[in-house]
Amino acid sequence: MKNLIQKYNIPGPRYTSYPTVPFWDKEGIAQQDWERTVKKSFDESNQVEGISLYIHLPFCESLCTFCACHKKITKRHEVEQPYMDTVLKEWDLYCDLLVERPKIREIHLGGGTPTFFSSKNLKKLINGIFKRADKFETFDFSYEGHPNHTSEEQLQTLYDLGSRRNSFGIQDYDPKVQKAIHRVQSFEQVKRVNDLSRKIGYESISHDLIFGLPFQTEESIRNTIKNTIELKPDRIAYYSYAHVPWIKGVGQRGFDENDLPKDNEKRYLYELGKQLFFDNGYIEVGMDHFALPTDSLHKAMESKKLHRNFMGYTAGKTELMIGLGMSSISDSWYAFAQNEKDVDVYTEKVNSGVIPIFRGHLLTEQDLIVRKHILNLMCNLETEWKIGLDVTIKNEIIERLQEMIDDGLLEVSDTKITVKEEGRMFVRNICMAFDLRLLENKPDTRVFSMTI
Ligand SMILES: C[S@@+](CC[C@H](N)C(=O)[O-])C[C@H]1O[C@@H](n2cnc3c(N)ncnc32)[C@H](O)[C@@H]1O
Ligand code: SF4
Repeated sequence: MKNLIQKYNIPGPRYTSYPTVPFWDKEGIAQQDWERTVKKSFDESNQVEGISLYIHLPFCESLCTFCACHKKITKRHEVEQPYMDTVLKEWDLYCDLLVERPKIREIHLGGGTPTFFSSKNLKKLINGIFKRADKFETFDFSYEGHPNHTSEEQLQTLYDLGSRRNSFGIQDYDPKVQKAIHRVQSFEQVKRVNDLSRKIGYESISHDLIFGLPFQTEESIRNTIKNTIELKPDRIAYYSYAHVPWIKGVGQRGFDENDLPKDNEKRYLYELGKQLFFDNGYIEVGMDHFALPTDSLHKAMESKKLHRNFMGYTAGKTELMIGLGMSSISDSWYAFAQNEKDVDVYTEKVNSGVIPIFRGHLLTEQDLIVRKHILNLMCNLETEWKIGLDVTIKNEIIERLQEMIDDGLLEVSDTKITVKEEGRMFVRNICMAFDLRLLENKPDTRVFSMTI
């Protein structure tokens, strides 16, 4: 296994989309193409399955030095009101375009730190969204909370607004690791928000942990997982630390490359975590995620309904996902588009009445086919050849997979490809064999984190 890890630990995408963002069309997407595909996908799907909304709330009070998300650090809470007004204006722009009232199946508040916002403002935001929309028959509303900055009032307000699912950033409980990543939070602080969520009635609580952080050891991970298991979250995200200082130069400081666990040590931390989760009744779902059998994510996997999008894995697939807020990415199935990353530029565009995208990609017929294969592999660990690839391309893919087939990571038959249990941790490498965009345009500079 050690040799396989060394062999396959290369820079590669996490496939929250296909094509992946660095391979979107350099020309971008024309505003009218974006709007046309949103409308098309809305007309096809609103009545049948509803739409999803992702709302990016970027503010955090303090910078965690490992963080790779789009965030803005400030303690000035005056930023909440104008930002929320802009998000609601952006929502109006979409509603004007769609004409019919959207039916919302999923809302996710991501960040940054959504619980940076006061209860009053969170209420205004969600009520503002529903002034122009209805709930779909099944409605799932979730949000990310920072354990140090989430009050009982916020938990209750979000519950009253319909949320039954939340996730908390834990990362690691070890004091030395916490100091290095500038994220000090005690077990008691986490226990407080976890217990309050249970008391209020949340049905699914998720904890985010990361392996591969500076100064982590076998002992520190065992302890972090012991604390986690004690609180019995319904889901656990066990992320591989993405060290991307060339993108997040300003943020990823405070520790040195030498402080990070080496490749094999890092993989061992993953294996250890996985075993401890299994021992405690969790089941692995897709990549990076573990869930109790009672959780909807696990049920979605069992019924092959798991989906993957920019937020990671979800149990509620919709053809249209609209991302609101600075830097949010939207997916109309036929195209992707990302909002302006600078909050001032984002605000200016919205105020001038324009859906504030700055780049995107219109999928070709071939992109759509490859996208289905990659989604199947990432979600179900198998895909069928009947999803129409040209025979030459199919044979080239098998050729690229040959070494991994010889290494016992997957099986290929006339009808399908199946990733074996031994190959699960290499699923990103397997998807790379399908990634025609990556193969056509190998990037000149480093753009992806390591696959393992
Ligand atoms: C956008 S953060 C929101 C959570 C909230 N702000 C908090 O910190 O509690 C979502 C999660 O992304 C994960 N994350 C952020 N940067 C990462 C990185 N460089 N590598 C792996 N995971 C990362 C963390 O586990 C974090 O909890
Ligand atoms: S981990 Fe969460 S709180 Fe920390 S900087 Fe990133 S988004 Fe903000």
